[in-house]
Amino acid sequence: MRAAPLDDGESALPVVVIGAGPVGLAAAAHLHERGLPFLVLEAGDEVAASVRQWGHVGIFSPWRYDIDAAARRLLDAAGWAAPADDALPTGAQLVEEYLQPLAKLPAIAAHLRLGARVVAMSRVGVDRVRTAGRTDLPFVVRLADGTDITAGAVIDASGTWRTPNPLGVNGLLAHGEDQAADLIDHALPDMLGADRDPHAGRHTIVVGAGHSAANTLLDLARLARTAPGTRITWAVRGGSAQRAFGGEDADQLPARGALGSGLRTLVDTGAVTLVQGFGVHTVRRTAGGITLVAADGRILTGDRVVSATGFRPDHSIAGELRLDLDPILGCTRTLADLIDPNEHSCGTVRPHGHKELAHPEANYYAVGMKSYGRAPTFLMATGYEQVRSIAAALAGDVAAADDVRLDLPETGVCSSSLVADNAAREIAARFGLAQDVPRKLAAATMALLPTAASTGDAVRAAAQQMGLDSEIALQIAALTDQPGAPASVAGLISLTPATGGSCRA
Ligand SMILES: Cc1cc2nc3c(=O)[nH]c(=O)nc-3n(C[C@H](O)[C@H](O)[C@H](O)COP(=O)(O)OP(=O)(O)OC[C@H]3O[C@@H](n4cnc5c(N)ncnc54)[C@H](O)[C@@H]3O)c2cc1C
Ligand SMILES: NC(=O)c1ccc[n+]([C@@H]2O[C@H](COP(=O)([O-])OP(=O)(O)OC[C@H]3O[C@@H](n4cnc5c(N)ncnc54)[C@H](OP(=O)(O)O)[C@@H]3O)[C@@H](O)[C@H]2O)c1
Repeated sequence: MRAAPLDDGESALPVVVIGAGPVGLAAAAHLHERGLPFLVLEAGDEVAASVRQWGHVGIFSPWRYDIDAAARRLLDAAGWAAPADDALPTGAQLVEEYLQPLAKLPAIAAHLRLGARVVAMSRVGVDRVRTAGRTDLPFVVRLADGTDITAGAVIDASGTWRTPNPLGVNGLLAHGEDQAADLIDHALPDMLGADRDPHAGRHTIVVGAGHSAANTLLDLARLARTAPGTRITWAVRGGSAQRAFGGEDADQLPARGALGSGLRTLVDTGAVTLVQGFGVHTVRRTAGGITLVAADGRILTGDRVVSATGFRPDHSIAGELRLDLDPILGCTRTLADLIDPNEHSCGTVRPHGHKELAHPEANYYAVGMKSYGRAPTFLMATGYEQVRSIAAALAGDVAAADDVRLDLPETGVCSSSLVADNAAREIAARFGLAQDVPRKLAAATMALLPTAASTGDAVRAAAQQMGLDSEIALQIAALTDQPGAPASVAGLISLTPATGGSCRA
């Protein structure tokens, strides 16, 4: 249903924004610009509680796509030192350099409540069945401590991070999964930092075949080079891991191909044991660890499991509201056609706003990561345009609300290739080489590592194969390991003496 424009006078009820992640805070900035009263409710004790949990992960999109326009205007007016447009932040940098400063601005801070977890919503005085006069009634938003807050509209930007998919191949909890919860990490443990110890010198089974699984496998392989006895098994439910490997040499984007090749090399060289067609049915604790039993009876035993199985939205807090959800993805039906992950990558999703996100319940919108339901192709930039359009609609500015635009490069901005492309370009430029040389060198080095006496030898042999001067190749390898090297390339080829050399793609 179309937005019912809100009164912006003294007595107006606030727009409640659920969640102070990147998209919730962007919504706050747009509501502020529109002069609409608002209140941001954040479950965590700090803003961006979910992003903080994956702070060690490098973001694929450069800063220019990570900062909302209204938020930037507010920050610029307060004398903010903006990060470089083309640099690639980690999750932690996104919080420290952008979201935290934004949340501290008086225009936002005065309307932000931390430790406020929303548990349910309805309309004041009526349940979901009552129709008469429904759109004129305010919303009631209930917090975990029992407080009821009255709102003129609700923008739900609570994300999906808190509701990871279970291990069961059929989408249900696997039998015994709960009882072994302390031996199961959800996506993206910090293998080379805070979460190193439980995995170093142990056997970890990674389940899933998306970016989270790929990241974790590459980090574990790196950990294995410094922690003897570290073993890695990768269980995918599909009959093939080809999707995770990507197009490799046939990939239109060579860097993305090299990343997939790197993962394949880990498998081909035995650094990672790949088990295909393994759909988890039962999880059992064992004397020393954990056992996964597949639906076909096969068994995998390890010390810990990383469940990198993706995320799903939790619509239960809106159970008393009238939602019209796509039966497959769990987003609005209109949006489902635009974002079907079978047909669209992040860069090819059409811009969309209040119309595509509207539910039968007027003035309730799920935005951000949650708006995509189970589709994993969401981008912050998409979310920023969503909330710009919705704030305009709530303010009654129909023309601005309907005029949705999104300026994304055709290749998308969430591709790991972009990270590598940018970094490789910088390094290649320093040596006057074609921009794909550093990545080709990394891939060739990785392929040669298992048979080379040292990483240095592998780099030299790879250089010879490519017709590249071996001294330059070694300099490139060393450069990628220097402090101050582009974050995304540091560690691509590592010659650090303490580790005896390593390589990752
Ligand atoms: C590892 C990783 C890397 C990513 N990299 C990129 C990238 O390179 N580029 C890109 O564009 N996108 C990327 N994404 C996708 C997406 O942009 C991010 O997940 C982004 O954080 C989504 O923002 P959000 O505000 O919708 O949700 P979130 O960041 O998840 O924020 C939701 C907020 O709501 C709060 N909350 C949850 N439930 C409640 C409740 N009931 N009551 C109150 N508060 C609640 C949470 O504590 C949290 O602070 C990445 C995602 C992941 C997981
Ligand atoms: N910037 C970064 O470095 C980075 C890192 C990680 C994640 N991300 C982003 O975060 C989002 C989520 O990525 P994600 O990898 O966590 O999730 P995802 O892309 O949704 O991938 C989930 C994977 O888990 C599999 N899966 C789901 N349930 C399963 C089960 N029960 N058993 C076995 N396998 C199961 C899926 O398999 P099927 O293929 O069979 O469906 C899929 O391969 C994406 O937007 C991604 O781009 C970014």
